[in-house]
Amino acid sequence: MLNIVVCVSGGGTNLQAIIDGIKNGTIRNTKISGVISNNAGAYALKRAENERIPAFCISPKSYESRGEFNQAFLAKLKELNPDLIVLAGFLVILPEEMTEIYQNRIINIHPSLIPSFCGTGFYGLKVHEAVLARGVKITGATVHFVDAGTDTGKIISQKAVEVLDGDTPEILQRRVMEQAEWVILPRAIDEIAMAEIAGGKG
Ligand code: GRF
Repeated sequence: MLNIVVCVSGGGTNLQAIIDGIKNGTIRNTKISGVISNNAGAYALKRAENERIPAFCISPKSYESRGEFNQAFLAKLKELNPDLIVLAGFLVILPEEMTEIYQNRIINIHPSLIPSFCGTGFYGLKVHEAVLARGVKITGATVHFVDAGTDTGKIISQKAVEVLDGDTPEILQRRVMEQAEWVILPRAIDEIAMAEIAGGKG
């Protein structure tokens, strides 16, 4: 059984896609042992609570220093002991040592076709604003392993989405979520979970 922790900051629609995937069997051999958000108001936490998944808010604002936040965040992860950490719209700079401790065990969903429109400053609606400003006709989403850089880890999967005339950033974001993010993130988790079985971990 692949034990995952999902880190969120916002509405949690990617978390919901994972929850639904586990319930409908498209994500096999997987259990969400916890959801962590830096934002107490994140609706993602409500989505976790609705499914009786342990939900935790660990916010940098609650600590005297960044170092104390980092320690608290890492301590919670250690307690939950995940095989895989899934960043699903998690808008927090990770503690430096985290990518070492969980090497090749952290994945992220980014709302563009990396290496386009990624890196520092490219998150949420800002990505789609840049896509529209550049006038590209195809965008999409990427699932990748997280390394010490920003959106620089090994790409796991991508899915293309058309940019349509009249798109606003909000309309485009929704299409990328529906047609790409909510498809490739659950699929990537299932593949890792099944590879875990293949790898004799099951
Ligand atoms: C999504 O657009 C995702 O690509 C980006 O942040 C947003 C999270 O949305 N990383 P949600 O919280 O999963 O609804």
